[in-house]
Amino acid sequence: MNISFFNTYISPGAKHKVAEVLDSGLLSEGRLTQEFEDTLKSLFAWKNTICLNSGTSALHLALDILDIGPGDEVILPAQTFVATGLAVLYCGATPVFADICYEDGNIDPESVRLKITSKTKAIFAVHWGGYPCKLDELKALTANKNIVIIEDAAHALGASYKHQSIGTVSDITCFSFQAIKHLSTGDGGAICINDSELYEKAMRKKWFGIDRKNAPLSELGERIYNLNEVGFKYHMNNYAAALGLANLENYTTRLESRRKIAEYYKQELRSMASVQLFEESNDCKSAYWLFGFHVKNQLQLIKKLKTLGVPASVVHQRIDRNAIFGGTNHDLKNQALFDSTQVHIPMHDAINETTATYIIESLKKSL
Ligand SMILES: Cc1ncc(COP(=O)(O)O)c(C=O)c1O
Repeated sequence: MNISFFNTYISPGAKHKVAEVLDSGLLSEGRLTQEFEDTLKSLFAWKNTICLNSGTSALHLALDILDIGPGDEVILPAQTFVATGLAVLYCGATPVFADICYEDGNIDPESVRLKITSKTKAIFAVHWGGYPCKLDELKALTANKNIVIIEDAAHALGASYKHQSIGTVSDITCFSFQAIKHLSTGDGGAICINDSELYEKAMRKKWFGIDRKNAPLSELGERIYNLNEVGFKYHMNNYAAALGLANLENYTTRLESRRKIAEYYKQELRSMASVQLFEESNDCKSAYWLFGFHVKNQLQLIKKLKTLGVPASVVHQRIDRNAIFGGTNHDLKNQALFDSTQVHIPMHDAINETTATYIIESLKKSL
């Protein structure tokens, strides 16, 4: 059996849709980008969204529109991909690593409370594997403070927090549509912003700082504008949007399949004494970009599964260990424990009943 750990989903209709864009010659941002944004908004009940060329761009843009810079601190978990921390460094701000909850890998509000200083300007709430963070507890910590919660929902498209769609809960939410994400545009991302002024600012800054709507063409043929802020080239182009639109068509069904596989994994693993499942609350729904759990014999299990043709992995190792972030923070006790016991098994569109059964049988033989 050939099982991959990650998978790139490309809908059968995608080739045609992308070819249409190539034939049209209209490759850059355009009608399809707008259509993709509108479809995302209606599917996930988002107030607004701006599609971008990556999730990393979304994270950077989020900090940039808040004017976060040198001297400011941004709190984040180490249990994430380096993109979350790099976005902070792009702004010249200081990443401050908080501990996670061992039970689900998400940032621990109590640790965040201890890390808040007068310099804290934002908190990155990374929904690890697609399961939402404790957003109410984080919100309570920022009440009456000038601190913005930015959700890094790179893993959480379609997840819900207390029955609310992720993308509608906090002031700013960032998504990724990178190749192996649930919804891929090749590379791409999106940002949802509640405040209308910040939204307009992001609209300008995603395209060099030029306000397209109010920059008409002059008689000489050049747009009329006068840049007074640094902008970026972060917009999403039409052919990425075409791929996104095609892949979005059956997104709800695909997400349901993931949830069914997760239910099956949980049901089978629950009774196994050596496995500790990640905790989930009834009023939150994961998007299951990943499926993880804890075991004591992590390396042994990963090696044994490999011999049976089942790829398993720790996926991202804590990012603070990288020299650029200052090296491992030894005060993150739950993180250290999580590092030594977390294991993730395949969870993607190519997993069906047969492969899921084989994965579970292999796990039972290996534990
Ligand atoms: C948690 C998290 N945040 C941000 C990103 C960055 O997204 P992108 O690759 O679209 O830039 C990733 C990427 O995989 C991620 O896993």
